[in-house]
Amino acid sequence: MVQLHDQTLRDAHQSVLATRLRTEDMLPICDKMDQVGFDSMEIWGGATFDACIRYLDEDPWERLNKLSDALPNTRVQMLERAMNIVAYSNYPDDIVKNFVRYAYRNGCESFRIFDALNDLRYMKVPIETANEEGAHVQGSLCYTISPIHTVEQYVEKFKELEKMGCDSLCIKDMAGMISPTRAYNIIKGCKETGIKIPIDLHSHKTSGMTGFAYMKACEAGVDVLDTSISSLTGATGQPSTESVTAALQDTEYDTGYDMDLLMDIREYFEGIWSKYRHLHRNQALRVDPSVTVHQIPGGMLSNLVNQLEKQGAADKYEEVLKEVPRVREDFGYPPLVTPSSQIVGVQAVMNVKFGRYEKITNDTKEYFRGMYGRPPGEISEEMYETILGPDWEDEVIEERPASLLEPQFKKKRDELEDMGLLKKPEDVLTYAIYPDIGLKFLKGEVEAEFTSDELPLEPEKEKEEKEVKKPPVSYPFEGKVNIDGKDYEVKMESEETVRVNGKEYKVSVLFPDRSGSQGATTKPKKEEPTQDPSGEELEVKAPMLGTVLDLKANPGDQVKKDEPIAILEAMKMENDVSAPKDGTVKEFHVGKGEDVEENDLIATMVV
Ligand code: CO
Repeated sequence: MVQLHDQTLRDAHQSVLATRLRTEDMLPICDKMDQVGFDSMEIWGGATFDACIRYLDEDPWERLNKLSDALPNTRVQMLERAMNIVAYSNYPDDIVKNFVRYAYRNGCESFRIFDALNDLRYMKVPIETANEEGAHVQGSLCYTISPIHTVEQYVEKFKELEKMGCDSLCIKDMAGMISPTRAYNIIKGCKETGIKIPIDLHSHKTSGMTGFAYMKACEAGVDVLDTSISSLTGATGQPSTESVTAALQDTEYDTGYDMDLLMDIREYFEGIWSKYRHLHRNQALRVDPSVTVHQIPGGMLSNLVNQLEKQGAADKYEEVLKEVPRVREDFGYPPLVTPSSQIVGVQAVMNVKFGRYEKITNDTKEYFRGMYGRPPGEISEEMYETILGPDWEDEVIEERPASLLEPQFKKKRDELEDMGLLKKPEDVLTYAIYPDIGLKFLKGEVEAEFTSDELPLEPEKEKEEKEVKKPPVSYPFEGKVNIDGKDYEVKMESEETVRVNGKEYKVSVLFPDRSGSQGATTKPKKEEPTQDPSGEELEVKAPMLGTVLDLKANPGDQVKKDEPIAILEAMKMENDVSAPKDGTVKEFHVGKGEDVEENDLIATMVV
């Protein structure tokens, strides 16, 4: 008999609805899902934590509590990214341990633990902690194809994970590209080498061959298969729970699940699918066998499409898909899964946009330094030099990066307490893992993109300009104008134009705003030339759409060419905005936390 592990409430919507499914749309169906008799259900972790606080204004800890209460008969699981927990970089041991403990205490009974580079040193702390708590521990390896990722290597590492105290194992084929033969060989290899604990196969339908792989996995003796309810599977999602159940009926692998019950659940999620129609993406729905070439996981694919659209670069999609495998080879063949998928993906976008390695992200540099773990394959000295410069050897670390980090839990707790924001210990973890967005969330400043009641929304349309009839003000005018939601102090002599952040705006309507000062609605008139005619002032612009994470200099500071003056977060990755020449920072035109569009003025320099 084979059992299913249901991914509807975690990976399914992460793969086809940009991770936006809200808790209130999950709870009504939990009772029925709880009756199926699934081996387990994944309901938390992965990208859902981030999405809760960033886009949904939902407390992820409350979600975990509510869902685990609503699923009393089913073992509920989270996806845990080893030392990266539910984010994209390493955290100190004390944060990882506390996270696992509090997750367990809030109802998470099982932990699927993986490291993006399959570096077992990174999985040790979460595996040991989850074991101490008494949770079910699943050791997971990312499946990928490369000259170094052989069947023998997988079998060896799974054996090691069993020794490390795991209760079950998982082949995590996040890109949906496992072939029937490889699935068979790895599982058979594990069983023949004497591995006793159950083996689970996690895959996505992306390649179109996953159904065959699941069947061969059954023949090799797989214990559990990962599926999601058909309504939320698309092509980048998992094989459908109902289809796999039906396919295995009347075989020795029969799950024994009630098909009528599954049909009820399907009907519920059909409604959810239509309700979330503003998030539908055509590309996520179509099978794409080229995944076996570019090897981009489902979640990454839908995010990449989303981000390219936002960056106004949707036409670069095919080019980026071709660049990803080249970058991956340069990087020593990391499996493409969070965070390496983002690191490789963003660097590939940069390479296509600006030329190969003309712009190198901070995360690429960190990866080469070894801060994400040991790259699985060899990296050439030329690549190290391209990324880290001639002294690269001094920068690369040998040890586990988390061992370089100071404990943080107490410090973060004290900081929250001082700010009066500490309501429960879990908040410390939200803040420690996501210092900026987490803090914003805890302060109650995150606005939900939508609530369940507001759905369905129509796909975004261009906003029309509204004509507002108000008496014009007299010139000269001195006061506040509001441009794109921000107030600016301006002076206008007689012209109906105003210059803000290096852009000239035509003032179409002027009227007194609520605060009593005079305001104006404006529309951009024209771009200013990038350089002052004297050649002495230089404008530093945002290379892409993103959020200003930090300013690395102060007005008056002397900076060298290529020295970062600001950090921009785009596509969940940090990117330097660097000084184009040696000079002095004259003024910043953005603040920390501000959203900027491509080409927005970041700073003015004197060179
Ligand atoms: Co997945």
